[in-house]
Amino acid sequence: MCGWVHRKRDLGGFAFLELRDREGVVQVMIDPGAAPEAGAAAKEVRPEFVVRVEGIVASRGENVNPKIPTGQVEVHARNLEILSRSKPVPFPMEDQIDALETTRLGFRYLDLRRPALQRIMMLRAKAARVAREALAERGFLEFETPILTRSTPEGARDYLVPSRISPGSFYALPQSPQLFKQLLMVAGFDRYFQLCRCFRDEDLRADRQPEFTQIDLEMSFVAADDVMAVTDELLARVFRDTIGFEVPRPIPRLTYADAIRRFGVDNPDVRYGLELIDVGDVLGKTEARFLREPFEAGGRIAALRIAGATFSRKELDELNEVVKPYGAKGVANAKLAGGAWQGGLAKFLGGEPGAAFAQRTGAADGDLVLVVADADPDTASTAAGRLRQHLARRLGLVKDASWGFTWVTEFPMFERDAATKRWAAKHHPFTQPLREDAGLLESDPGKVRAQAYDVVVNGVEVGGGSIRTHEPELQGRVFRALGMDEAEAQRRFGFLLEALAHGAPPHGGLALGFDRLVMFLAGTDSIRDVIAFPKTTRAACLMTGAPAEVDEAQLKELGLAYKGSRGGSPES
Ligand code: AMO
Repeated sequence: MCGWVHRKRDLGGFAFLELRDREGVVQVMIDPGAAPEAGAAAKEVRPEFVVRVEGIVASRGENVNPKIPTGQVEVHARNLEILSRSKPVPFPMEDQIDALETTRLGFRYLDLRRPALQRIMMLRAKAARVAREALAERGFLEFETPILTRSTPEGARDYLVPSRISPGSFYALPQSPQLFKQLLMVAGFDRYFQLCRCFRDEDLRADRQPEFTQIDLEMSFVAADDVMAVTDELLARVFRDTIGFEVPRPIPRLTYADAIRRFGVDNPDVRYGLELIDVGDVLGKTEARFLREPFEAGGRIAALRIAGATFSRKELDELNEVVKPYGAKGVANAKLAGGAWQGGLAKFLGGEPGAAFAQRTGAADGDLVLVVADADPDTASTAAGRLRQHLARRLGLVKDASWGFTWVTEFPMFERDAATKRWAAKHHPFTQPLREDAGLLESDPGKVRAQAYDVVVNGVEVGGGSIRTHEPELQGRVFRALGMDEAEAQRRFGFLLEALAHGAPPHGGLALGFDRLVMFLAGTDSIRDVIAFPKTTRAACLMTGAPAEVDEAQLKELGLAYKGSRGGSPES
């Protein structure tokens, strides 16, 4: 056996080693009387030394260790050879450690020796293998697409790579293989997939990395239903063959409009109810100005009913802070007690409006109703949706180990870019509008729905895709709706438009965030746990020190000069 010395104990003249590899640990007993050379080597051995042991597997008799799978046996060593020595390690190779994450990431190769991370990396490899098998069985061909390429249209900032041979020109690292997979459909390959690395220079969060992996796929001669069905099957296979969970199939579908109406957000957590209730027509005409004005301005008033809830005054006040980051002004409340309304809204809820409010919200005695209003319906929806998530956590509505899968379909084609006030593609500009909405492209772009779909697990967007526009004429109209003239469209995507004009089949596809998927399989809430060599939230690798300064000579060769002040250490 070869492996790492996990622990060493000396007991009554014998040495006991726990020998560890990626599968687990096994106990080795060294009796210096029976194997004097092994005994001498054992004296030198320290934790994390790499050793080779030869010996006889024996029963542990009375001393069974029920906590480990090898607990029935131990190996009586005949030989013990030290293959490699280790400095003292900065933290033990245990699951529960109190080392700082910066220390762990700095010594990632040691961090990765810890059993929990070893299990996750093996799980990740298995998930990748299962996905490949499932797709190959369905006739998908695996491709590799370029890493040094042109800017791709996913809407994040690009990572750029300067060209030495063409000074002043840059490659962009792909934000996704979107355009190449469409070109592969034009080339006739029909069913493409790739486990691909994508690069996006965006603000990082617990479930975002600057480079991440997608299971990317594309199909020809299909409608949205087909792509969703293939994805249902793929997800079911991956969950079943890795963690033994049966994904309910077909995964239920919700339109975007219904998701916003019922849950306030386009990535709803469907593990619990607590749905939003529209009360605009009930409260929008009361004396309450903070409700009437938003309602009259075309806004939304959404309520959440909490059965028999007891919130202190202070807790109710704190709910205001939950919605403010989303642009809403606050949360109003009313509680039904002994047939009458109490709380901040009570004075507007006498008589008829009060009865209508109780009926609409279904409030029974003892129930609390919270209300969020805003003149901008999107602001009201988002704030109420986030409030719903906050309350679910606070009220313990999310059961451990429960799963909520849903598709969200028919996304709007465009959204207003806050900075430029222009229309921007909500998914990407190659997404095809719903046929029945295409007539609105020129007259009312905000109303155009797209043949786009996201798959959401426990309130997290795990994947998204669309049916693409394969007719150049329609694509041109979409570009114009985006404020892109012919020249700009040609400059940015000319090669794709040219390809679409050479016999492009109808096609569509989707990409799953593979890291996010593995997070779910592993039950962790940090994306860094599922990537072997992750980056910090400042996009730095603490082990290699990337990003790093480069020599003047290297810059010169690239025709570059650095003007700004140098950044210092990435963690400072
Ligand atoms: P999209 O941009 O929605 O679609 O990405 C697909 C999925 O990738 C995951 N993801 C990320 N995971 C980790 N870190 C990130 N920074 C990150 N950004 C995205 C998400 C997301 O659902 N080309 C299209 C797909 C298509 O239309 O076929 C695309 O890339 O889980």
